[in-house]
Amino acid sequence: MAKDAVRVLVTGAAGQIGYALVPMVARGVMLGPDQPVILHMLDIEPAAEALNGVKMELIDAAFPLLKDVIATTDVVEACAGVNIAVMVGGFPRKEGMERKDVMSKNVSIYKAQASALEKHAAENCKVLVVANPANTNALILKEFAPSIPEKNITCLTRLDHNRALGQISERLDIQVSDVKNVIIWGNHSSTQYPDVSHATVTSSSGEKSVRELVADDKWLKTEFITTVQQRGAAIIKARKLSSALSAASAACDHIRDWVLGTPKGTWVSMGVYSDGSYGIPPGLIYSFPVTCEKGEWSIVKGLKIDEFSRAKMDATANELMEEKSLAYSCLN
Ligand code: NAD
Ligand code: LMR
Repeated sequence: MAKDAVRVLVTGAAGQIGYALVPMVARGVMLGPDQPVILHMLDIEPAAEALNGVKMELIDAAFPLLKDVIATTDVVEACAGVNIAVMVGGFPRKEGMERKDVMSKNVSIYKAQASALEKHAAENCKVLVVANPANTNALILKEFAPSIPEKNITCLTRLDHNRALGQISERLDIQVSDVKNVIIWGNHSSTQYPDVSHATVTSSSGEKSVRELVADDKWLKTEFITTVQQRGAAIIKARKLSSALSAASAACDHIRDWVLGTPKGTWVSMGVYSDGSYGIPPGLIYSFPVTCEKGEWSIVKGLKIDEFSRAKMDATANELMEEKSLAYSCLN
């Protein structure tokens, strides 16, 4: 029997990421090839005509899984009954800006949209915040939507996770699908800590650690980390626009693994509400290694943390605490 359609909200749907993301959702990349979807697309009034153009293209693409499309500038209509909410709406940073610089514009959007989601989304709606500053926007959304369970509010660091996999595969000249269990700790910003201490490569001769195969600890502790931390800025410099196709693809990966589960023995990185694991203060949305099963994520526990990692994990937590107070000062 055909499955019931899942309602997927994409905010900022007339923007660059939205334009890359909605066809992926409609093709089953996010929720699977047998899962019908209804797309709810929200944007603001100045983008209403462009948003309608995206709707026209979705109709023209005749996606078999796409059962309906709602394109609206009304946040209540957009949120009504949604099961998945991908929050992309906001303003991207331009060359020379840090993610913090887009803070004041974007956090107020997340405060406003929190109550619409709380009141109108389906029960147990899963929320993914993509717009920057992603961790802090997600935290504001959580704090202003107290009836949404904290487990349901996450932010995107899967793009950074995928970037780390990509850098290791390039360095070792191997398939990216053979690398797993990198970790992004902390903030989706230049203080994030891409960690390969527990990452492995699978080959015909079994599983080997990335550290052993790369055999250049200096590179892993310097250039590898800064390349991943600065990749967003490098894309902005090259394209004069921030990453879009890779961000959309990572958003699909994030939701797919959350809903359908992570493969056995594999973890992924998600920005989630800290429960104090690894000494990270509760009250922050922080990126941790997680596994997912039956629609629930769990932080991978018990990984050994050396002194180098500890310092980097704390530095990015400190930045998130500063961002949190800056966000509240912007809202006041
Ligand atoms: P964009 O400017 O192309 O699109 C953003 C869209 O949001 C625009 O259409 C705009 O009209 C809309 N918007 C603005 N305010 C809104 C509101 N209140 N409600 C609904 N829609 C609203 O930007 P983009 O390149 O698509 O990037 C979107 C966001 O995602 C930016 O904040 C960017 O920095 C961030 N981003 C995050 C990641 C990540 O990995 N977390 C990666 C790339 C980009
Ligand atoms: C990215 O990582 O590509 C995005 O967050 C855009 C940015 O501002 O870096």
